Amino acid sequence: MPLSSKLPNIGTTIFTVMSKLASDCRAINLSQGFPGFDCDPVLLELVSKYMKAGYNQYAPMSGVPVLRERLAQKTKLVQGVELDSESEITIVSGATEALFAAVAAVVRPGDEVILFDPAYDSYAPAVELNGGKPVFVPLKLPDFSVDWDLLKSVITASTRLIMVNTPHNPSGYVWTKEDVEILAGIIQETNILIVSDDVYEHITFDGRKHLSLLTHPVLRERTFICGSFGKTFHVTGWKIGYCLAPPKLTEEFRKMHQFITFSTATPLQYALADYLTEPTGYLDLPDFYQMKRDLFCEGLGDTPFVFTPAQGSFFQIVSYGHLTQESDYDLAVRLTREVGVASIPVSVFFSDKSDHKLLRFCFAKEDGELENALEKLMSIKL
Ligand SMILES: Cc1ncc(COP(=O)(O)O)c(C=O)c1O
Repeated sequence: MPLSSKLPNIGTTIFTVMSKLASDCRAINLSQGFPGFDCDPVLLELVSKYMKAGYNQYAPMSGVPVLRERLAQKTKLVQGVELDSESEITIVSGATEALFAAVAAVVRPGDEVILFDPAYDSYAPAVELNGGKPVFVPLKLPDFSVDWDLLKSVITASTRLIMVNTPHNPSGYVWTKEDVEILAGIIQETNILIVSDDVYEHITFDGRKHLSLLTHPVLRERTFICGSFGKTFHVTGWKIGYCLAPPKLTEEFRKMHQFITFSTATPLQYALADYLTEPTGYLDLPDFYQMKRDLFCEGLGDTPFVFTPAQGSFFQIVSYGHLTQESDYDLAVRLTREVGVASIPVSVFFSDKSDHKLLRFCFAKEDGELENALEKLMSIKL
């Protein structure tokens, strides 16, 4: 029986490809974005406590109330924004679900959705599966900041949504207050909505602070914030995240969530609610990751790569175009096989797969593993 794919151009993701290659070659895997260390044992004990206490049946569709309340408290503490936990917060199965449900809630066939390029790989398929048309706006290299004139030039009467990601994967660029204000100014006379992917909200460096779009009154009423406990508490395998949005948007969002997963693992929700009572878990994260970024960048200084230390996220981009014209994909594969360190070729994040001779390394790893990787990278021949 012939089957025509709804996503004909999507194959196995590069993350799976590189992680498998890393494992086959016994290389140090700095490709996929997940921590190479476990979470706080306290969090594990809390999950186990709630499982043993019988919290094992379906959670409420929107999330357990106590976790939504704790998230409201966190948002007040960190961003100074008051949220109603009943009508503005939904717990979901990872930021990936939040992103998909937000897009599904508002994008209709023919709508245009602006994506900054390069972008995380789930955005364009989410748009396409809902009948929308991705419109790509290239970010400015080398710092991956937004070209606002270009953004303005692609807005049409069909523009429904703009998808934002700060701190940005793969570059680590962190939006400034000025960025937030310019975006608000551009869309305030339109009906354009925003989906903001804030999964690295607690990973910013050198005194920078993640500024939620909810802090701006124009954006507050039209933005879905998608967050991930996985990234913040080193538990990416739990696939648990959240969506913060004003009541009308949340209402539509929940209609999607209801039929995508309905609800999210109950004991994880109670455990995270308890864990959030102590803010150090997320307030200490910038220092924790900045030490890793600094360790990694210091070592990179002894390699032929050129780079600017990341502003946020747990990724570091390096450039090698001054040394060789080898494609980033070939180089990433060769580094894995010959040097023993796996990375991600940044071309995979670009809509047209353009090769800017950049590689992305994930430094969310034990210091010893980073040191071993750096030692190997010093032997690199380009
Ligand atoms: C920018 C970005 N958004 C979303 C996700 C997915 O988050 P989650 O694992 O909570 O679904 C990732 C994970 O790598 C990411 O880097």
